[in-house]
Amino acid sequence: MTCGKVYLVGAGPGDPGLLTVRGLELLRSAQVIVYDQLVNPALLDEAAPTAIKIFVGKQAGRHCIAQEEINGVLISYARAGDEVVRLKGGDPFVFGRGGEEAEALSEARISFEIVPGVSSAVAVPAYAGIPVTHRKFASSFAVVTGHEARKPNSSVDWAKLATAVDTLVILMGLSNLPIIVGKLIAYGRSPQTPVALIGSGTTIDQKIVIGSLADIVSKSALVEPPALIVVGDVVSLADKLQWFVPPPENQPLYEFEQSREPARA
Ligand SMILES: C[S@@+](CC[C@H](N)C(=O)[O-])C[C@H]1O[C@@H](n2cnc3c(N)ncnc32)[C@H](O)[C@@H]1O
Repeated sequence: MTCGKVYLVGAGPGDPGLLTVRGLELLRSAQVIVYDQLVNPALLDEAAPTAIKIFVGKQAGRHCIAQEEINGVLISYARAGDEVVRLKGGDPFVFGRGGEEAEALSEARISFEIVPGVSSAVAVPAYAGIPVTHRKFASSFAVVTGHEARKPNSSVDWAKLATAVDTLVILMGLSNLPIIVGKLIAYGRSPQTPVALIGSGTTIDQKIVIGSLADIVSKSALVEPPALIVVGDVVSLADKLQWFVPPPENQPLYEFEQSREPARA
């Protein structure tokens, strides 16, 4: 039997319309789809009716599925000859463990392809009217994890980062917001620096809260995960550049066209 292939596909940040053309093609033809928590369920409706769909995200009251177990699922289906789509929120290589999964596939000699996705790091600010760079306000931006901010030897060097780049986009940081804000101010960022918290960006549940480093913590209860934090003067454009109006609840954000029937010979 010939070996199958694994496609690490970025599902985009939430709005199904932000899946790439290549991602959609692969999703429609895959025999197996292994997907995460942050993947919009509407995308799974695009799968073939016969496709096996395996959820490997965090389930209420249960531990996350170990990465080795996920790697094992991908490898065993590919070895059985299947075309496997590993569908991940945003981009697979931006805090998505896509690198680890590609390494495991490479070591197991399984052929694989990376299909980049639209990362929440830029798309969620964009749907909130915040450009991460702007000629007047920001010439640099960094995307960092806020997950480890409370650890004494966090892998993010907050002391250097605080003033090194104009715009900071912090993923997985909502629960550590007070610590992150404290570090940024302590390491030299002005307390007046504008900050946005954006929850469920690009979806019908999108929620934006704007403040400054000085007061954002007191407003943070209004936003729930998944959420990201944008710090920098570009946030001041949000008011002027608001454009995304989520549709009413009973209307879809985006509807895919039916896939075209292959042309007949
Ligand atoms: C494990 S990281 C995965 C990032 C993903 N690979 C990407 O490129 O967008 C998950 C974090 O991304 C951010 N995130 C993902 N989707 C989001 C959304 N729709 N709205 C706000 N933040 C989001 C949150 O900070 C969340 O905790």
